[in-house]
Amino acid sequence: MTSARLIVDADFAISDLDRRVFGTFVEHMGRCVYTGIFEPGHPTADENGFRQDVAELTKELGVTIVRYPGGNFLSGYNWEDGVGPKEERPRRLDLAWFSTETNAFGTNEFIDWARQVGVEPMFGVNLGTRGIDDARRFIEYCNHPGGTELSELRKSHGYEKPHDIKFWCLGNEMDGPWQIGAKTAAEYGRAAHETAKVMRWVDPSIELAACGSSNRDMATYARWEYEVLDHCFDHVDFISLHTYFMNPHDSTEEFLGNVELLDYFIKEVVAIADAVAATRRSQKRIMLSLDEWNVWYKARGHDDLRKPGWPEHPPLIEEVYNTEDALLIGGALITLLNNSDRVKCACLAQLVNIIGPIMTEQGGPAWRQTIFHPFALTAKHAKGRVLRTLATSGSFAGKTAEEMPYLVSAVTEDESTGEVVIFALNRNLVEPMDLKVELRGFGGTREVGEALQVYHPNMKAVNTKDAPNTVAPAPIKQVGIDKDTLTAKLMPGSWNVIVTKPKG
Ligand code: AHR
Repeated sequence: MTSARLIVDADFAISDLDRRVFGTFVEHMGRCVYTGIFEPGHPTADENGFRQDVAELTKELGVTIVRYPGGNFLSGYNWEDGVGPKEERPRRLDLAWFSTETNAFGTNEFIDWARQVGVEPMFGVNLGTRGIDDARRFIEYCNHPGGTELSELRKSHGYEKPHDIKFWCLGNEMDGPWQIGAKTAAEYGRAAHETAKVMRWVDPSIELAACGSSNRDMATYARWEYEVLDHCFDHVDFISLHTYFMNPHDSTEEFLGNVELLDYFIKEVVAIADAVAATRRSQKRIMLSLDEWNVWYKARGHDDLRKPGWPEHPPLIEEVYNTEDALLIGGALITLLNNSDRVKCACLAQLVNIIGPIMTEQGGPAWRQTIFHPFALTAKHAKGRVLRTLATSGSFAGKTAEEMPYLVSAVTEDESTGEVVIFALNRNLVEPMDLKVELRGFGGTREVGEALQVYHPNMKAVNTKDAPNTVAPAPIKQVGIDKDTLTAKLMPGSWNVIVTKPKG
């Protein structure tokens, strides 16, 4: 048995939590849109063709905001292709994924879907093949009330009220050589500056995110962020981060060290953004949008990324998630909570089929992948403020990080209900953890509410269509609270959520 101690004080908070960190991503890629959220003729489809089994799972997942329409797809997309009468919409080659895009689904369908499932839409403008002119036209179509050609065009398409899209991404992964219309930092920084300026002239209420590096391993990482922000600092609110966790050492211990890598990544980008602020003697703080993140290392072969013959919605990067992936997603969510003062938005990429927490079969069922569970539980319980914690536990040394504590934890407090919630990953894969949490300064007596673990003795166990609940939350067997001290026994290699609430 390993032991760990956590001290929490009601007076010490990191930040209010921006619940947009529970976002996901829907790209026109593979089977995310088509046969994912949208499948006319499916037994559960409504009159719009929206799969209700997927809609229900999206609600259960607790998603708050969804990024659309890409991704790499965005950089070759003409938004006009996806609005208006469906029979007039063009079929086009999608050069991002070497597929045929039918445009049967577009902006207005996405807005209808987002409203149905109760999520905020987050849109991107194409800065690959297009630029400032397209961006100003698109936001006028979406957000301008009326009386102009493009706002009246939206109305003629059946949308009298503006879509009122608040969060906009200025392109996607513009540093990546794979990107349609990739740019240097100087080219992109200038384009982002001018595009952001003009979009805000059309709608001053929007928030704008500039593209950071495609990942922390890009050769231009850090210099890219600095130069881009140096150009567009005054006109943007966010810088984006993208990360897909890898498993280069094929070891669960090392794999779970991605928690540290994510933390380094966030803190480095904060430092760069604040360095740009310092050069201007500015008190403005650029926030972080981790608008693509997930585990993605198994489905990365050529066949996963591209199918011959320009097919419509081919199955691409349909990563099947296992127990250790769920633990890492849970650990990464804890990292996001602990960086809630600067990470104000995050999108698990993607929502369904494409590296998704939800899987579907065309014409068949939908089911929850392993990673669904820590996400849904965190989205359900992490509310209000994120508290500072002092954690002590054993640790291990690895190739990924020099010191990896066994306990990875975060605590939130919802002042409206009095609930204080503990999120804890036990990275000791051999021994259970004897966890003691001192809850200081919350007053009154408390009791334990929901206390669940995501645990499976087999780190490679997966959920499938025929066995969809192999890895699923189960009650923590030993958990209790005495006065201000909570004790729990956490299984080796488990992710846990423990709700405490005022008694009576
Ligand atoms: O999510 C899949 C792809 O990964 C996205 O299109 C791109 O932005 C990233 O490289």
